[in-house]
Amino acid sequence: MTDTQATQTAEIPPPAPASGREPLLKVTGLTRHFPIKGGLLRRQTGAVRAVDGIDFTVNAGETLGVVGESGCGKSTMGRLVTRLDEPTRGTIEFAGTDISHLGVGAMRPLRRDIQMIFQDPYSSLNPRHTVGTIVGAPFKLQGVEPEGGVRKAVQELLELCGLSPEHYNRYPHEFSGGQRQRIGIARALALKPKMIVADEPVSALDVSIQAQVVNLLDDLQQELGLTYLIIAHDLSVVRHVSDRVAVMYLGKIVEIADRDSLYRSPMHPYTNALMSAVPVPDPRRRQRAGRERILLKGDVPSPINPPSGCRFRTRCWKAQEVCATQEPALVALKTGHQVACHFPEGSEVAGAADKAGDKAS
Ligand SMILES: Nc1ncnc2c1ncn2[C@@H]1O[C@H](COP(=O)(O)OP(=O)(O)OP(=O)(O)O)[C@@H](O)[C@H]1O
Ligand code: SF4
Ligand SMILES: [Mg+2]
Repeated sequence: MTDTQATQTAEIPPPAPASGREPLLKVTGLTRHFPIKGGLLRRQTGAVRAVDGIDFTVNAGETLGVVGESGCGKSTMGRLVTRLDEPTRGTIEFAGTDISHLGVGAMRPLRRDIQMIFQDPYSSLNPRHTVGTIVGAPFKLQGVEPEGGVRKAVQELLELCGLSPEHYNRYPHEFSGGQRQRIGIARALALKPKMIVADEPVSALDVSIQAQVVNLLDDLQQELGLTYLIIAHDLSVVRHVSDRVAVMYLGKIVEIADRDSLYRSPMHPYTNALMSAVPVPDPRRRQRAGRERILLKGDVPSPINPPSGCRFRTRCWKAQEVCATQEPALVALKTGHQVACHFPEGSEVAGAADKAGDKAS
């Protein structure tokens, strides 16, 4: 069956979990509005709709990459799923348990299973603590006594992350950016987590070092069977490590697909624009792929007052009337490929546009 036929019959099977994989993380209708208060009485006058109703799953052992421009809600989403922040609405299920509103005490045992790696290895490590104290801190916090003692466990973690056990007594300022991020990763691995949420783990590093850290994450996943949610600004960083990729725009997921499907045939105009910004070393290859650079006009609208209908419409070169009145739902147009657009790119255009027209009339 061709993709076009699939669209028209609308009998699309849900994305099959890769063999033997079950969702470890399931997010439904996840929403985080930051209230804006004003006036003498500090009444709520509005809200920053940072994350505005998103659904996705991450299967055990896989990597979901999340990309989007600055301010689209990636970090807020990361903080919600690790429960460093509490959702306004929606649910977060981890390993079958609803953790959306668990208190500090109830989250404590789960903190071992979900760890976060931050963007800035400079500010996320306490400069007054030795590497040994930093990497060993999770054991103390959770009251865990590793076999053979904390020192041995920390030294093993350092080696696992490509550092020397001799670094135990050194301080963060003695290390390069890449090494500091390795220290952050070693700390995140201390309690043998199931899942790691990495918020722009390589953005602060030199391009030459980025690949090394990404490769380390990849190797650790193979070795330890980890599940990753990796947040990045641009599509090139997550390309090699992700099994699936979600594209966010202004608090929403606009496209989510298997990696190869997304990079080969992106369907959302916004994904196309992001994709066209990824440098292709050989211009002839870029031409063959039909990928000329699309320059997005205008700024990202404010998440306080997002555009009606499709949030991308103020910058979209394909926008029609229906885009201003109807919000496009995130629907599967192919197996393993969901998109929220009335006029998606590719062979499905005719079918989807007809459907959008039907709805509008
Ligand atoms: N604590 C907060 N209070 C109010 N608004 C917030 C808060 N945290 C984030 N925001 C707003 O929510 C929106 C999403 O922010 P977020 O940091 O999640 O975006 P991001 O995609 O991670 O951006 P970046 O790529 O720059 O890191 C932004 O408009 C931001 O200003
Ligand atoms: S729904 Fe309309 S405005 Fe939104 S991305 Fe698709 S074509 Fe563009
Ligand atoms: Mg961020």
